[in-house]
Amino acid sequence: MIKAIDHIGIAVRDLDASMQLYSSIFGVTTFHREEVPEQGVAIASFELNGVRLELTAPLHEDTPIGKFLASRGEGIHHVAFRSDAIGADLERLHNEGMRLIHETPQRGAHDMQIAFLHPKSTGSVLMELCAPAADASHT
Ligand code: CO
Repeated sequence: MIKAIDHIGIAVRDLDASMQLYSSIFGVTTFHREEVPEQGVAIASFELNGVRLELTAPLHEDTPIGKFLASRGEGIHHVAFRSDAIGADLERLHNEGMRLIHETPQRGAHDMQIAFLHPKSTGSVLMELCAPAADASHT
């Protein structure tokens, strides 16, 4: 089942500039930084009362986030929802006729298993399901 908002993904061109901006707004002093080559991204994230904001920059232009920036520019990219059984949720959504970008969970940042739903099936909101990798093996 889908239980909570886990994080909000924000597409940015320049991670360092963006970290400065978010530091100014929120007074954040510590970011978690990570590169996820499988997703073609570098992220810097911080948490506000249990909801993570994930600043996401492309590792190179020919990546989904690079293409998003080229066509839409910087801004909100996706909303990620925490699932306690990501495999079962994907199967349920698939059976309901939803288009999925990932039919099976992929490795994401923060040692999470992630999968994106296709925005054509979600009213143009890019949605991600995620679950801690340790939990995903139970699904
Ligand atoms: Co995400």
